[in-house]
This record gives sequence, C-alpha cells and structure tokens, in this order.
Amino acid sequence: MLRLTRNLSLFRRPLILMSAQTMMPMSQSSTSSFGLSSRASAVPRNAEKDGISRLLRQHDEVKEMFGAFKSEQRPDMKKAYADKIVKALANHSSNEMRYVYPLIRDRLPNGQMEYKRAIVDEDVHAELLDLVEKLSPEHGDLFDRTVLRVEKVILDHVDIEEEWLAELHHKLTQKELEDLDNDLAAGEKSGPTHAHPTQTSYIWGSMGVKLKHPLGGAIDKARDAVLGRPADKVEKPNA
Ligand SMILES: [Fe+2]
Ligand SMILES: [Fe+2]
Repeated sequence: MLRLTRNLSLFRRPLILMSAQTMMPMSQSSTSSFGLSSRASAVPRNAEKDGISRLLRQHDEVKEMFGAFKSEQRPDMKKAYADKIVKALANHSSNEMRYVYPLIRDRLPNGQMEYKRAIVDEDVHAELLDLVEKLSPEHGDLFDRTVLRVEKVILDHVDIEEEWLAELHHKLTQKELEDLDNDLAAGEKSGPTHAHPTQTSYIWGSMGVKLKHPLGGAIDKARDAVLGRPADKVEKPNA
C-alpha cells in the first residue's frame, strides 16, 4: 500500500516526468510527433542477424500492443494487454541497458550525455510500468489513463532512440551487428519480465546491470511460472 501510494505520487509530480522527456532537445532531423524520422526509417526493420533491426521490430510490436489495449473493451483482456506491455518493455529495456546504451555512450558523438538521457528515461519507464502492473480495470479511469500516459512517454522515447539507433547502425560493422543480435537474443531469455524501479540503473552502470539483470530475470520467471500472469491470456505458451 505504501509502495502504491509512493508510485501514485508520480502523477502529482508532472515536472519530474517532464524533465526526463525534455532533458535533451529533440533531434533537429525531420521527426514527426510519435513517428519515425526519415533516417530511422532507412534502417532495415526485417534484417536477419542485425541487433538494431531486432530492436526496431520490438518497438513496432509494442506499438501494436498499445493499439490492442486501446481497441479492447473487456476488462480482463485490457489487463492482459497492459501486462503484456509491461513484460515486453521490462525485458527490452534491460537488454538496451546491458548491450545497446553502452554502445551509444562509446560510439556516438555526445554519447555520454545521450547515455545519461537514455538511462534516466528507462528509470522513469520502470516506475510507470511498475505502477501499471499494480493497477487494474477496477481502478477505473486511473488504469486507462496510466496506460495511455505510458504510451506517450514510451513513444516519445522511441522517437529519440530510433535516431540514435540509426546513427549507431551506420557505425557498426556487420560483425558487430551480428554480435549485438546474438547478445540481445540471449538477453531476452535471461532478462527480467517485470519492472524493477528500485534498482536504479545509473548507479549500477552497464557492467552492474549485466550482472544483476539475469538474476532478476531468473526470479521473475520463477514467479511467473508459479503465479502466472494476465499476459498469459494473450500470449503463446513460451512467449
Ligand atoms: Fe529504450
Ligand atoms: Fe527501445
């Protein structure tokens, strides 16, 4: 209860969320609101053995999940789609912190500040996703409004992130793209399936999350296997 109260306070602190969104200016290239920039759209989204392409496909899948949530009317299925979003984003975010953001830090101009920005965003996402997991349709409008809030925050993050990923794609060799794809595929299996907002990623650094996230992932998966979760209603077995 205390924890839920603490998390709900996020909504009384809109400036903190805004600071994560506006800490760095949007890229000057042609980016439509919540759309792909022309540069990001030039990166193949269906390439095999290409870690950046894998990430872009996952962004598309999450957008589809938000669409499914919004078109669903049945409360239990809305909860299932919301939970599927939490599960997908918790895992995706962990993989980015472990394998992608360090590349952004080390290979892009301004990389150190881009890295900081990305980690701040992911920490905000973890707080919001944890809140979504605690909410359900019984909470009325608060549930829907929170998921829609998460959609806005995530889509804004994805817009900027895809700019970085497009730049990174140009800088990595085919071998590096393949290695990244292999790391991400392994990371999906070992990574968390729930958000863990108390595990501040910036303090741990990229080496810390590489050690810590597989442990959290193992605990999450054991918990999911015992308790099940709403996402099971809209996911294939083993998803
Ligand atoms: Fe991200
Ligand atoms: Fe991402």
